[in-house]
Amino acid sequence: MASSHVAERPHERRGENLYPCRLTQEFGDFTMTLDVPEGVWNPTPHGVALGHALLDLDFAGEHVLELGTGCGIHAILLARQGARRLTLTEIEAPIIDNARHNLVRNGIDVEVEGLVCDWTAVPGASHAGDAIWDTVVTNPPFAKSGKRYRRYFIDMLILDAHKLVRPGGRLVFVQSSMADIPRSLRMMAECGMETRIVAETSGPFRAYYFEDDAFRREMATVPGGYTVSDGRHYERLIVFEARLPR
Ligand SMILES: C[S@@+](CC[C@H](N)C(=O)[O-])C[C@H]1O[C@@H](n2cnc3c(N)ncnc32)[C@H](O)[C@@H]1O
Repeated sequence: MASSHVAERPHERRGENLYPCRLTQEFGDFTMTLDVPEGVWNPTPHGVALGHALLDLDFAGEHVLELGTGCGIHAILLARQGARRLTLTEIEAPIIDNARHNLVRNGIDVEVEGLVCDWTAVPGASHAGDAIWDTVVTNPPFAKSGKRYRRYFIDMLILDAHKLVRPGGRLVFVQSSMADIPRSLRMMAECGMETRIVAETSGPFRAYYFEDDAFRREMATVPGGYTVSDGRHYERLIVFEARLPR
């Protein structure tokens, strides 16, 4: 079982996830070290689960788009799994600079293009069936999506994948059972995608879930969203690989 070591997580108990830290995380026989400055998303079990799933996927020669790269945890793994070129998006340039820093720190030398943009408006997206990326990889915002409709980024990802990914290309993403797994599976099927579950795990609630009453009320309405055992709440984390129609 992989382990992670976090040198400093002083703010975690207060429930926010943008605090500075340096962490090491094992992925197979590779130990990754990440510098995460204030304002950059700290990798959570969702991101770590996605990372482990990437180890089982081949990206040889691919041009991969990662939406919301954060500290670059997945960018590093994508390069190690053979990606030829990475396009990384984020909402602010310093976050992309941090991802670039972590790529170098972990000995990665790959062609990287950084885009400061919103998820719904990625420069290079195309309606004309000539999308340029082979695969889109992401850990979409959900609990802290900031949207009234919390699944916004997951739905947009599925609905707009064809504008980003070439016909026959892939969408790889992680989501919680609280984000309604059957709904994602239905949407992907309705969009003509062939979906596979690459990885499935479960983990305890993040501290910040308990600080958001609206979130907890909403999650209680999602069938199969979470379980409670010995007073502890657990969510399932699923990594999907969806193949777009040709
Ligand atoms: C759940 S975090 C994942 C970060 C990283 N991939 C990981 O797993 O640790 C989502 C990322 O999307 C970015 N993001 C949030 N809202 C966004 C938006 N409207 N447009 C583009 N990126 C956004 C955040 O800055 C954040 O880094």
